[in-house]
Amino acid sequence: MVAKEIKFLTGNIRQLLGSGHPSLDTVAKYYTQAEGKHVRPLIVLLMSRATALAEKSPRYNGQQLSPDIDNAISPIAILSDVNPSSSTTNPITHFQSSYPASESDILPSQRRLAEITELIHTASLLHDDVIDHSVSRRGSPSANLEFGNKMAVLAGDFLLSRASVALARLRDPEVTELLATVIANLVEGEFMQLKNTAQDEKNPIWTENTITYYLQKTYLKSASLISKSCRAAALLGGSDTVTVDAAYLYGKNLGLAFQLVDDMLDYTISEKELGKPAGADLELGLATAPLLFAWKNNKELGALVGRKFAQEGDVARARELVLQSDGLEQTRALAEEYANRAISSIDALPASEAKDGLIEMAIKTIKRRK
Ligand code: FPP
Ligand code: MG
Ligand code: MG
Repeated sequence: MVAKEIKFLTGNIRQLLGSGHPSLDTVAKYYTQAEGKHVRPLIVLLMSRATALAEKSPRYNGQQLSPDIDNAISPIAILSDVNPSSSTTNPITHFQSSYPASESDILPSQRRLAEITELIHTASLLHDDVIDHSVSRRGSPSANLEFGNKMAVLAGDFLLSRASVALARLRDPEVTELLATVIANLVEGEFMQLKNTAQDEKNPIWTENTITYYLQKTYLKSASLISKSCRAAALLGGSDTVTVDAAYLYGKNLGLAFQLVDDMLDYTISEKELGKPAGADLELGLATAPLLFAWKNNKELGALVGRKFAQEGDVARARELVLQSDGLEQTRALAEEYANRAISSIDALPASEAKDGLIEMAIKTIKRRK
C-alpha cells in the first residue's frame, strides 16, 4: 500500500544524515544499514493516506490555541544558533525536491514526517543501547559496541539535530511542537524507568498505582512518538479536529500494545530471533508488565524489585516466578485490549485500503515475534 514511499525511506534518511566528517557519517548511518522493521514510518504513511479522505478543516485562523494534548508542555529552549545561510551548503535537501513527482495522496510533508519519526526513533536506539549496555541491534553488533559510547551518544545527538532541521523545514509550528515534545517525553520515560515504581523503598508494595506508573512510563518511552506522529500526519493533511484526535488515539493505543508485546517477547523469544539481547530487562533491573502482574499475586517479588534483581540468583528466581505465574498471559491480554482500542479509535474514518492497513498493523503488533 505504501511500498513506493517506503522504497525511498532509507535513501532519504541517509541523505538527511550526510556529514562531511567521515567517521560521523559512518556512525550516524550505521543503524540505517540493516533493514529495520520501519513500523513507525509505515504507520505514519498509512495514517496519512487513511486520513486523506476524511473531513478537512482550516488551521491557524488565529481563533484557537493548539491544544496541549498531554497537559505537559516542557519548557522550550530558544534556538539561538540557526544560521540561515547554511541552507545552501547543508546536505539536507528541501523536502519538496527529494521525491519524484507522483499522483500519491500522501503529501511530501507527510513523507518527510515519516522519515523524521524514524530518525527520532533511531536516535533513541543509539542512546538506549548505551544506557542498556546492549551488544546487538537489528541482528548486528550495536553502535556502542562497534564505535564506543562517546561516538554512539554523539551520533544520536546528530540524528536528533538533523531530525529537528527537517522538522523546522516543514514550516508547521504545531507539528514542530508535537515532535519536540516527543523528544522530551523519551527522556522523561527513561527517567521514570530508572525506578520500577513510584515508591522509593527497599521492599515496595504492589498497589494499583504500580501498573499506572508502568503504563505512564510506557506511554512516554514508547507510545508518545507514534501517537504524536500520527497526530502530526493528520494535521499536515489538513484533517479536522475529530480526525486529528482519532489519529492520535490510534497511535497511543497501538504504541502501548507494541511495548507490552516487546516486554513479553523479552521473556519468551531467543536473542537470535529478536536480533537483540533477550531476557535483558531483568538483567537491567527492570520490572516490566509480566513481572508486575506476577508480583500482584506473589509478594516475594517485592524485595527483588526493590533491589533491582541485583543479588546473585535474583534474575533467575524472578524469571522462574514470572514463568510460573499468569503474568505473560495478562500482558498479552492487556496488549490485545490496547490493539482493539487502536482499531476502534479509527472507526469513523472513511473505508479505505489504508484504513484496513492500519487495522492489520494493530493485529500484526499482537502476533509479532520480533
Ligand atoms: C528502547 O527501549 C528505547 C526507547 C523506546 C526510548 C529510549 C529513550 C532514550 C534513551 C532517551 C533519550 C533519547 C533521545 C533520542 C531523546 P528498550 O530498551 O526497552 O528496547 P530494546 O529492547 O529495543 O533495547
Ligand atoms: Mg534497550
Ligand atoms: Mg532501554
